[in-house]
Amino acid sequence: MGPPAALRERVAAVHRGSSLPERLRLFDGWAARYEQDVAALEYRAPHLAAASLAFAFPAPRAEARLLDVACGTGLVAWELHRRGFRCLHGVDGSAGMLERARSTGLYQQLRLCVLGREPLPAPAEHYDAVTVVGALGEGQVPISVLPELLRVTKPGGFLCLTTRSNPSNLRYKAELEAALGQLERSGAWQKLLAQEVEYWERATSEEESTQGTGYISGVVYIYQKCPVPHLEEG
Ligand SMILES: C[S@@+](CC[C@H](N)C(=O)[O-])C[C@H]1O[C@@H](n2cnc3c(N)ncnc32)[C@H](O)[C@@H]1O
Repeated sequence: MGPPAALRERVAAVHRGSSLPERLRLFDGWAARYEQDVAALEYRAPHLAAASLAFAFPAPRAEARLLDVACGTGLVAWELHRRGFRCLHGVDGSAGMLERARSTGLYQQLRLCVLGREPLPAPAEHYDAVTVVGALGEGQVPISVLPELLRVTKPGGFLCLTTRSNPSNLRYKAELEAALGQLERSGAWQKLLAQEVEYWERATSEEESTQGTGYISGVVYIYQKCPVPHLEEG
């Protein structure tokens, strides 16, 4: 049995928005039910991303400064906090989602920021790690934001990114992977992990499901920013 029709409709509504501002307004409206709905969908991206980042991250974690991009209601912060990360900043384009994130008390700083329209509100080389979980997808955070994520990351710092492998996101995923590879070839960062996860979350339609499993798959990527960038050879 798939997710309830009302839940499927709420998820579909967010992705139906014709423009980014409209979609962000739809996220405002979803904020109050977001955590309940993604729990019903068995959404595991925050857990998988935080576990991968913690594995790659050298101790000590408590003093490390992290930026959670498209932080939503703060699910990634809960997962990072329980793994010992204490200095968490967040940005999101939805005021409604940010209000929920604020109520967790887990972020030292939260800012409204629409990725693709404005720069991240942070100086260069400010963060030990940057996460973007559940938001690198068609109609959400654009791929053009990658250099901006790198800008605010310290040399030697880590980037933890996720995307989905469902049919309607495959074009975005292919373009994302091309851009990730291009940045690696230019010496901007080094790939530490690209982990394809089969049971990422429950699918909200048969067409989006992986081979009739009722689930969609997703990927966690961990990159480390190179200490000194070098130019692509050849
Ligand atoms: C599916 S939620 C993921 C939230 C959280 N990272 C998690 O894993 O639970 C996607 C979030 O990305 C935000 N978002 C989508 N596109 C954005 C953009 N271009 N700029 C800023 N935030 C964006 C939405 O407001 C929403 O909070």
